[in-house]
Amino acid sequence: MRYLIVPFIIYILAKTEGVLSQDEISKERSPEFWRKNAQDDLLIKLSKTLNLNKAKNIILFLGDGMSNPTITAARIFKGQNEGFNGERDSLSFEKFPTVGLSKTYCVDSQVADSACSATAYLTGVKSNYQTIGVSAEVKLNDCLASKVEKNQVDSIAVWAQNNGLSTGIVTTTTVTNASPAGTYSHTPNRGFESDVYIRALNQSLEDCEDIAKQLIFRDPGKSFNVILGGGRKNFLPNSTTNGNRLDNLDLIKHWEDSKLNWKRSKIMSKKARTKYVTDRESLLNVDFRRTDYLLGLFNRGHLDYHLDSKSRQPTLKEMTEAAIKVLQKNNKGYFLFVEGGLIDKAHHVNMAYKALDETLEFSKAVQKAVDLTQENDTLIVVTADHAHVMSMAGYSDRGNPITGIAGQVSNIDKLPYMTLSYANGPSAGQHSNRGLRDDLRNVDNIGEKDFQYPSLVPLQYESHGGDDVTVFARGPWAHLFSGVIEQNNIPHFMAFAGCLGNGLTMCSNDYK
Ligand SMILES: *[C@@H]1O[C@H](CO)[C@@H](O)[C@H](O)[C@H]1NC(C)=O
Ligand SMILES: *[C@@H]1O[C@H](CO)[C@@H](O)[C@H](O)[C@H]1NC(C)=O
Ligand SMILES: *[C@@H]1O[C@H](CO)[C@@H](O)[C@H](O)[C@H]1NC(C)=O
Ligand SMILES: [Zn+2]
Repeated sequence: MRYLIVPFIIYILAKTEGVLSQDEISKERSPEFWRKNAQDDLLIKLSKTLNLNKAKNIILFLGDGMSNPTITAARIFKGQNEGFNGERDSLSFEKFPTVGLSKTYCVDSQVADSACSATAYLTGVKSNYQTIGVSAEVKLNDCLASKVEKNQVDSIAVWAQNNGLSTGIVTTTTVTNASPAGTYSHTPNRGFESDVYIRALNQSLEDCEDIAKQLIFRDPGKSFNVILGGGRKNFLPNSTTNGNRLDNLDLIKHWEDSKLNWKRSKIMSKKARTKYVTDRESLLNVDFRRTDYLLGLFNRGHLDYHLDSKSRQPTLKEMTEAAIKVLQKNNKGYFLFVEGGLIDKAHHVNMAYKALDETLEFSKAVQKAVDLTQENDTLIVVTADHAHVMSMAGYSDRGNPITGIAGQVSNIDKLPYMTLSYANGPSAGQHSNRGLRDDLRNVDNIGEKDFQYPSLVPLQYESHGGDDVTVFARGPWAHLFSGVIEQNNIPHFMAFAGCLGNGLTMCSNDYK
């Protein structure tokens, strides 16, 4: 019986879905539909006035590798999953009033990695490929140059702390990975997440301090009120099952002990309240109103993909909510960095389905921040660090599943192809034989979460793309983020809105 009912229900669902979106599409035949649609959008635009308030709070959301084709495909994926007209759907941040484009190249590289780009969008200075928090005077692996103070560049997290704001970082990767490390570290190699990697390259531990250690021992990292993500291994000695550190340091214990004598704030004499958590349930049970410093490391390495996570790890949305609730207690405001880091990891192995799902998780986290804050005092900027080489190809009919086969076969080899595919990556050759493409319809897991979408040039890891990425902004001075801008403008513009840092701000006398 069960065997009959289940396919029947699936049939009904599929049918309903089809009917819904066909209905929607039939409306589009009327010119009035499009005219009204445009007039409604126009009225929304005309109702907006420029927001010239001071940004008390600043939240920077970074979709790692969230290229424009990723955003378009994720929007369609979202709508189709919900049984609607995917093409007309939007992600949460696509409703923001301002968008611009960011040029992501680095000083020595046409195409950015997450390290030099983090340096640009967090410190306001462009640097060399794979280096973090140092100027382009520092070459990859040059530990000595990275130690020179004038070569070190501070992030907006430092500027925020200097003004008494609370600060925090949230990511789905290791908290020592390149993007979050851009908020607090100075290193000539993004790979130096713990001492084990510095030793592996025979570099001097005197000259190069690993990223985890910088987070726990140095400002601004040691004063972060919130640190949530993965990467426990980089904080624990290799004598423990989870750790890889060879210097025998337990950085988590150090984080807890170091705060025993801390005050809640500079004006309050009360003791700081700290909390360290390692699973989702403990995070959800934290009393955020009574927590000043929150450290959560939910996996040994990166967090699992949302689609593979067995609910022991929090979602990006849950971590974002926790962070905002801890940070918003400060009347002076806060700076928060939130990264959806697994969009990039999925693209690197040609798993487009997972990249889209991670983009939807990212979109939900942004929506949570919108719900928990007010547009009149909180600037939210959403962007990506670099693109990827996934493209959306062919001339499929409206409503064709975005993760599936395109609507037409090739008119050359008469075989089907996927709507989504890559210029390069590990899947090259997987779906072809001596240059002849396989019939994808015979592939078992086609279009499923672990399916590796076809790629052309064989590379162990699919590469980043050099095309511009989008910046979405909402809140005070959001309009600054329009046009085609250099990626390193981003923290300068945020600092202007929040009256942070040494550049011109809306509070400067020379501006007024
Ligand atoms: C580091 O030094 C060891 C011992 O001298 C050598 O075996 C190893 O190849 C070196 N590794 C690198 C990355 O240079
Ligand atoms: C920890 O690292 C040291 C030095 O490389 C090694 O000798 C030891 O076996 C490692 N311990 C564990 C538990 O892996
Ligand atoms: C923002 O709006 C809220 C409610 O709409 C209001 O209470 C608050 O005073 C406003 N803040 C600023 C900075 O205008
Ligand atoms: Zn990457």
